[in-house]
Amino acid sequence: MLSVIPQPPRCDHATVWPALHHHALALRKGFDLRHAFADDPGRFAHFSQEAPHCFADLSKNLWDAPAEALLLRLARECAVEQQRDAMFAGEHVNGSEGRAVLHALLRCPRGESPPGLAWALAQVHETLDAMLAYAERVRADAGITDVVCMGIGGSGLGPQMAVQALQGMCDARRRMHFVSNVDGHELQSVLDGLQPRSTLFIVASKVFNTQETLTNARSALQWFHAQGGEDVARHFVALTTNASAAAQMGITTTFGFWDWVGGRYSLWSAIGLPVALAVGAAAFRDLLAGAHAMDHHFRTAPLQANLPVRLGLLDVWNRNLLGFASRCIAPYHAGLRRLPAYLQQLEMESNGKRVDRQGRPLALGSAPVLWGEPGTDGQHAFFQMLHQGTDIVPLEIIAVQRPSHGLQGHHEQLLANALAQAQALMQGRSCDDGHRHFPGNRPSTFVLLDALTPAALGALIALQEHRVFVAGALWGLNSFDQWGVELGKLLARDLQQRLASGDVVQLDASTAGLLQRMRA
Ligand code: F6P
Repeated sequence: MLSVIPQPPRCDHATVWPALHHHALALRKGFDLRHAFADDPGRFAHFSQEAPHCFADLSKNLWDAPAEALLLRLARECAVEQQRDAMFAGEHVNGSEGRAVLHALLRCPRGESPPGLAWALAQVHETLDAMLAYAERVRADAGITDVVCMGIGGSGLGPQMAVQALQGMCDARRRMHFVSNVDGHELQSVLDGLQPRSTLFIVASKVFNTQETLTNARSALQWFHAQGGEDVARHFVALTTNASAAAQMGITTTFGFWDWVGGRYSLWSAIGLPVALAVGAAAFRDLLAGAHAMDHHFRTAPLQANLPVRLGLLDVWNRNLLGFASRCIAPYHAGLRRLPAYLQQLEMESNGKRVDRQGRPLALGSAPVLWGEPGTDGQHAFFQMLHQGTDIVPLEIIAVQRPSHGLQGHHEQLLANALAQAQALMQGRSCDDGHRHFPGNRPSTFVLLDALTPAALGALIALQEHRVFVAGALWGLNSFDQWGVELGKLLARDLQQRLASGDVVQLDASTAGLLQRMRA
């Protein structure tokens, strides 16, 4: 429970909520982006925002200054700042699990501890130093040519996404492989090309009882021994809060973290080892520094000039006041191709909830469906629907100002395409032929990173974490639990036994029929 603000009102209980509805209703009837820009030369300036390592243009969304003013009142009424401060101060804001939520502490420099958290920050830096020293030792070891990273969800998506994003600065002498799925095809295809003496296996699991990761780890250990591998302490490392479970499996080289780091917020902890191995300790520290700069912005910038707050408010506006049920992410950088998957977990596991912190059913929609692919690929696939489909889907473009390659003409083309999509969505094109008519007046947000450096990536991810926090705070959610993943895990255990035995007693007809067909 929050001790600072025991029960901040959720957005639909706020006194300003009816005014927002009223305003949205009016806008839905007559608002047109083209006219909004024509009528207000200051619109771009008003709706753009500088933040560490990035610039964001929110002006091509279906809102106006009075709407944002009402949303800012909403943020104040829902005590977003107090909720934010409670999180940073280490209050137990994850009420259903009785935990603090301190991923921001993982990127907090030495000596800048929030009051009362110096002990935790000391542990953070001790582990970080040890983890980075280990990463540098492995990087200096020419005998290790392949690293197999096993982990799923928060223990897999972040490292994989970040290693891909920073590919240009990765150590080319070492191949990084990522295995998340329990589907043996994935692990087998990686093992097929490897030698035990030149491979390091990283087993990343916060709780160390995740079925997929443990099954993959056991198979990797079996393969290692079967291929004559000997030194498990040198070739296997576990990243976990549960070192004793790792030791039971025979993995004694471990780096830990703490229960106050949520899985999908754990990239900054020991879970980031694959990133540190790929780009080095200094670059990993830059990643942390970029995220910390965004934390500072989030904590200190006034609400109306605070990018995570403005994005979180826009998310609630789009979802609840305009009724848009999904958001499309289009990173215009090939290195960010796993970003949509990463953001899916961040948004949908955090805010895909149907009850508020007190367990009361929500009377309004929470997390939108997040989806996407890199541009320009998406333009030749699903953008048709964004431009001419029957549903309006806000598009979020993430582009990078300066490329890290030297190929002539590519980056200009890429940026021109990103700009063109946002422009086309807004402007549309009138045509008597319905097939060729573009209605326009469709929303997009444009985030421009200065370059895809470790620091900018850190800032971008922290920005997304905090906008998810803001929306969750407005919806009155606990954004830091994930009870919705439990039932499927439980049933899978039962069904695995039934698949072996053929027992279908008390199963529904469909599950029983499928199970029998699988065994036939
Ligand atoms: O199944 C969901 C989940 O619990 C995520 O929240 C988490 O990131 C993932 O599983 C992996 O968990 P762990 O790191 O404990 O293996």
